[in-house]
Amino acid sequence: MKPKTIFTCQNCSAQAPKWMGKCPECQQWNTLIEETYTETTVSQESAKGYTAFRASLLKEGSNTNKPLTLLEIKPSSHSRIKTKLTELDQVLGGGLVAGSLVLIGGDPGIGKSTLIMQGLNAPLLYVSGEESSEQIKLRAQRLGITDPQFYVLSENCFEAVFEWIQKLKPATLIIDSIQTLYSSLIQSAPGSVSQVKECTAKLMNLAKSWNITTFIIGHVTKDGSIAGPKMLEHMVDTVLYFEGSTHSQYRILRAVKNRFGSINEIGVFEMQSMGLKEIKNPSELFLQDKPNQPPGTAIVSTLEGSRPLLVEVQALVSSSQFPIPKRTSFGMDANKLSLLVAVIEKRLGLAMYGHDLFFNVVGGLKLEDPAVELGVALAFISSFQNTPLPARTLYCGEVGLTGEIRHIPYLEERLKEAAKLGFKKALIPASNFTPQLQSAVPLLEIFKVQSLSEAVELVLK
Ligand code: TYD
Ligand code: MG
Repeated sequence: MKPKTIFTCQNCSAQAPKWMGKCPECQQWNTLIEETYTETTVSQESAKGYTAFRASLLKEGSNTNKPLTLLEIKPSSHSRIKTKLTELDQVLGGGLVAGSLVLIGGDPGIGKSTLIMQGLNAPLLYVSGEESSEQIKLRAQRLGITDPQFYVLSENCFEAVFEWIQKLKPATLIIDSIQTLYSSLIQSAPGSVSQVKECTAKLMNLAKSWNITTFIIGHVTKDGSIAGPKMLEHMVDTVLYFEGSTHSQYRILRAVKNRFGSINEIGVFEMQSMGLKEIKNPSELFLQDKPNQPPGTAIVSTLEGSRPLLVEVQALVSSSQFPIPKRTSFGMDANKLSLLVAVIEKRLGLAMYGHDLFFNVVGGLKLEDPAVELGVALAFISSFQNTPLPARTLYCGEVGLTGEIRHIPYLEERLKEAAKLGFKKALIPASNFTPQLQSAVPLLEIFKVQSLSEAVELVLK
């Protein structure tokens, strides 16, 4: 067979028969790379094993795969395997599902290798194309891993890895990282779109046919997606992102896709000298502990998966020296903020124009839950009037364009979290109130508010 040349865009994986300066799909420049498929290389010794395996699968498949009615399909209950980290279990939806393919993405150096080595139970095969066996041993020593069946393989070639998988039949397989793995059937460089896709597809096949729980580690590239674009997400069962800044020791593990559980679950960790420590009560972490509340700060509740987190938000309003005032926001969408400020100006008659506005979320969290809006608006008003909000009080509610406070979901969970942390009062949307809510949190004094002006009247007058 003649070798086939094709040009693949490294950004969106579109393919073209000829080189072009600009990708016709995603309009990026200089992203097309020449890749050669020489399918005749199947004769290569190393490739034989996997090819034979595929062929046998296809043969089997033709007998067993026939259409079934819904009644005929037996529901498979996914038995969950607990990992060594309960936070990891929670993000996975209650433990690992055998034979699932999990992608873990994150910036280089954030702690992905550490998380996986520390979290997973032996017997396992850890394939590293990034580090030597000695480096892995050093990390294992630091983490105190002594499992006798923790196999380490320093290898980049998929076909060679396959031989070992076949011999060892590990229950768990870790590929660290997918960008360093290549298949000898494709002649493009490791980390290119075709290689990454091809290797992931093969790993998926293995995971499903041999029931090997597989973890694929992928570095987030500079435009923020895994392995070049987000092209692997649809191929795997579960996608987790490990986030945090290298300047802080806190890390958040977040599920963005999960075929076996709910998404947006988070787990919080702290990177220490002996590995990752689980933070069981993250709300405490995001609340800055101080006896009295300075002007411009408020405590809000954001739902992360099924977890209500309490976080402190900080607003600063100062008169501007510039013709066009500054509006800077960390941790919340700047457009959302402009909208809230416009509501404050219009509905409360507070002249915030001509002021620089700054906003920050303590702990570096990103707030997307609309339930934080009441607290954020009150923080701005509090800074503007230089009057502190009452301490130990939680603010829950979405702010509408007419200044009305709208209904929010999961209020009971949020209030319970606040009560657990010793909060005394809570402002909630009037439409959310039920007598059962009060009996769920007997120690919390609940104030029902219908509008932003009513809330200001209550806490800032
Ligand atoms: P690593 O897991 O290698 O990151 P990744 O696989 O995402 O690239 O961890 C990287 C950082 O974590 C490294 O800078 C050292 C630090 N670290 C600790 O602080 N404590 C530890 O116990 C370990 C193993 C690593
Ligand atoms: Mg690593």
